[in-house]
Amino acid sequence: MRNKRTILALMMSAVLLVAASLAWGADSSKSAFLSGVHKKNNVTCADCHGKSIAVDDNETALNKNCKGCHGGFADLAAKTKEHINPHNSHLGETNCTACHKGHVASKAYCNYCHSFAMKIPAMGTEKESSDKKWVQESSKGAKDQKSARTESADVVVIGAGGSGYVASITAHDAGAKVILLEKMPITGGNSMLAAGGINAARTRYQERLGMHDDPAEMVKETMKGGRDKNDPELVKVLAYKSADAVDFLVSLGADMTDLVRSGGVAVDRTHRPVGGAAVGPHLIKVYRENAAKRNLDVRVNSEVVQILSDGNGRVTGVQVRGKHSGLYTIKAKAVIDTAGGFAANNELVGFYKPQFKETASSNQPGATGEGVALAQKIGANVIDMEQIQIHPTMGGETKVLISETVRGSGAILVNHAGKRFVNELTTRDKASAAILAQPEKSAFLVLGEDIRKSNVQIDGYIVLGLVQQADSVAELAAKMGVPADALTATVENYNKAFAAKKDPEFQRQDIPRPVNGPKYYSIWVKPGRHHTMGGVKINTEAQVIGKDGKAMTGFYAAGEVTGGVHGWNRLGGNAITDTVVFGRIAGANAARFVKDAK
Ligand code: FUM
Repeated sequence: MRNKRTILALMMSAVLLVAASLAWGADSSKSAFLSGVHKKNNVTCADCHGKSIAVDDNETALNKNCKGCHGGFADLAAKTKEHINPHNSHLGETNCTACHKGHVASKAYCNYCHSFAMKIPAMGTEKESSDKKWVQESSKGAKDQKSARTESADVVVIGAGGSGYVASITAHDAGAKVILLEKMPITGGNSMLAAGGINAARTRYQERLGMHDDPAEMVKETMKGGRDKNDPELVKVLAYKSADAVDFLVSLGADMTDLVRSGGVAVDRTHRPVGGAAVGPHLIKVYRENAAKRNLDVRVNSEVVQILSDGNGRVTGVQVRGKHSGLYTIKAKAVIDTAGGFAANNELVGFYKPQFKETASSNQPGATGEGVALAQKIGANVIDMEQIQIHPTMGGETKVLISETVRGSGAILVNHAGKRFVNELTTRDKASAAILAQPEKSAFLVLGEDIRKSNVQIDGYIVLGLVQQADSVAELAAKMGVPADALTATVENYNKAFAAKKDPEFQRQDIPRPVNGPKYYSIWVKPGRHHTMGGVKINTEAQVIGKDGKAMTGFYAAGEVTGGVHGWNRLGGNAITDTVVFGRIAGANAARFVKDAK
């Protein structure tokens, strides 16, 4: 009897619990389910969710309400006293909900790449928040799961990084109805992190400075840098359309007026914003503004789980898993795969290059390579998957990339004996190999005041605590732990090479500035993985090539998800060119294909 009563009581409590959960949306006493300041202040459901608790995948209403209560990023940034200001970071204006959660403790999105001791005030501790695994387990086996609804579009674009935005804007402007899908909670992809610039030959900015560049030289240097393993037809398109790409960016509102030299190139071909600011955050801001102006349908938290095809090489749409809306289908005449590379995917990197598995990656956490797998599943051919680029200069033990433009601005690479050991402007594969050949497998960038002033990114590295500073070379040497006499001689010799415009030791072709005082700086650097050169095979029309060697119907790809453009080693500054040149081609061709199919 007692047992029966206990069971009955337990059942009643379970029923009450379910009823309480169902009433959760309407019940304003939900504070027990809340976290941090929301819990403390007994915030009601309606305060955040409005009248309905239904949340769209973009979390639009929630984010509007966050800003309504707390203010916009500019207001919050102004209130921030900490030395790292997350509301004024290179990620730009993103969803508040990318970091802050109402019901569980918040986690700084920055810390998927950095490791800041960043406590979010009144929002619980990071320990309490669950780490999200970006590649959803749930997408495995999604093939057999049914979509709850079906929508339609002319063109679906997978991945809202640089190529995705460019392809979407181009297709939209050519008259197509476009949906741009992004699995992460923010847009931008790896392009958002791009530090250098965009390589382009014979641009108005070069001409204005009296520089004569030639796309034919860009072809030669890109092929040489890629060890002649690139697809030469793709490289020709890259180079001959590069100046147009810069004009396109300027037409969207971008600033590409500053020029610098990248490794493996004999002229200043890398275009970037004035003052040497990082190109990626600037471009993503411009793309976001252009997408908003056009009312483009951009959806974050929306992971494509399969590309749909008729089985004969013709794509028919995609199946998507929305964070809140669940599985649904978008029927489309054309699909553009711009889902990026996989340098953030330890397992995949380890599979193709076991020796790189444990190296740090400069990539955003979503660079995990599903775009390649999705394309392969419907018959796309892939190439060069084992070609993974190691960038020479990541900041010490961090995931912060120290831009090649720091060397382009004049900085030298010095080993733990205080000596130069390589031409700093050689290609990345060679510079990385030279650092890894040092007993410590690391090195230092050494620079002076003029170099710092020419490249605003260096001030950012100072804020991040990556830079040693001193009033003399000898004092800097002591801080670096290298012999003072050796470092002094190294700097003197380099400054002589600057004055003579000739570097007898390492044949560096361009020495734009000396290493001079009053202050001297050094940054401890190690190589880390940066770019995956391999991926989906495309032709010069950005059409995806199937395993049978033929172009697949209605299927296009651009950017790091593709292989062939960069061969076995990418030149610094060529990735952004790739995203813009092939993003434009993919967008224009997809829109044309849709028009012709109507
Ligand atoms: O080092 C850098 O600034 C990186 C540029 C790039 O990967 O193109």
